[in-house]
Amino acid sequence: MEAGKHSYMAEATALLRAAHQVLDADPKILQDPLALSLLGSDTEDRIQADLERMQREHLRGARAFAVMRSRFTEDALAEAVANGVGQYVILGAGLDTFAYRNPFPEDELTVFEIDHPDTQRWKLGQLEAAGVTPPANVHYTPVDFEKQSLAEGLASGDFDSAKPAFFSWLGVTYYLNMEAVLETFKIVGGMPSSSQLVFDFVVDDSVLTESEQAGVARVSNVVKGYGEPWLSRFAPNALQETLLGLGFSATRYVSASETHEIYFASRSDGLFAHSALQLMSATV
Ligand SMILES: C[S@@+](CC[C@H](N)C(=O)[O-])C[C@H]1O[C@@H](n2cnc3c(N)ncnc32)[C@H](O)[C@@H]1O
Repeated sequence: MEAGKHSYMAEATALLRAAHQVLDADPKILQDPLALSLLGSDTEDRIQADLERMQREHLRGARAFAVMRSRFTEDALAEAVANGVGQYVILGAGLDTFAYRNPFPEDELTVFEIDHPDTQRWKLGQLEAAGVTPPANVHYTPVDFEKQSLAEGLASGDFDSAKPAFFSWLGVTYYLNMEAVLETFKIVGGMPSSSQLVFDFVVDDSVLTESEQAGVARVSNVVKGYGEPWLSRFAPNALQETLLGLGFSATRYVSASETHEIYFASRSDGLFAHSALQLMSATV
């Protein structure tokens, strides 16, 4: 990220969620009308004006993955809440809108948004400009994962580290150095039993076909051009071993074929997600 500026990729990802509301068939994978409002009142016009690019295969694949990972996460969160988890920590929240369309009663689920200070400041401005008043059960904590520990950030607020929590970390691990990723795994892995982490990661070349590797290299070059290069990648099996060594008791690798079956196989618009990015769920 460029010093002093919000994450460009946070804005780009929110635009993908907004485009899903406008361009893709019903039923939506993620119902997220606020994604449009947070980017400004002209967002739908901007999407329509850029239609040809928005409908290119790589951008359809990117937005399919972006909405699917949020939907998968919110489905897993609902299960955790049903099992009594009352804290949701959104790591690297960007313009995630869950907190403002939270379907659970205010006293049942407290939401903590953790993000880089520059992005969090920008988000608060976007919320205000869109006329969205954050509910009382949402807490904001600025943390730069590469300079501060998540533990320090959580300790500075109302988070109760004696109770289990559900963590999401979407669209972030690949932008951080390996040390910062492992440190954060370790902190979440040290949370009370039945805490859970859902995150996505860029798959290592060692488990990709040559054409998939070429696809990853293309996207990697694009994001690097925006000043947010991909720094950390994982092979799924090795990642599971790593998580088990850092305090988690169980991991679930959610493969592209599994998410395709759940979310895309029966769609009428042929939407399907990029397979270079994949999901992992780990439980303490
Ligand atoms: C691609 S965006 C994803 C945002 C959001 N999770 C979503 O799905 O829309 C990446 C996020 O990672 C955050 N991020 C990047 N580097 C960070 C760092 N060193 N510390 C904290 N957050 C960081 C950015 O501020 C941004 O919100």
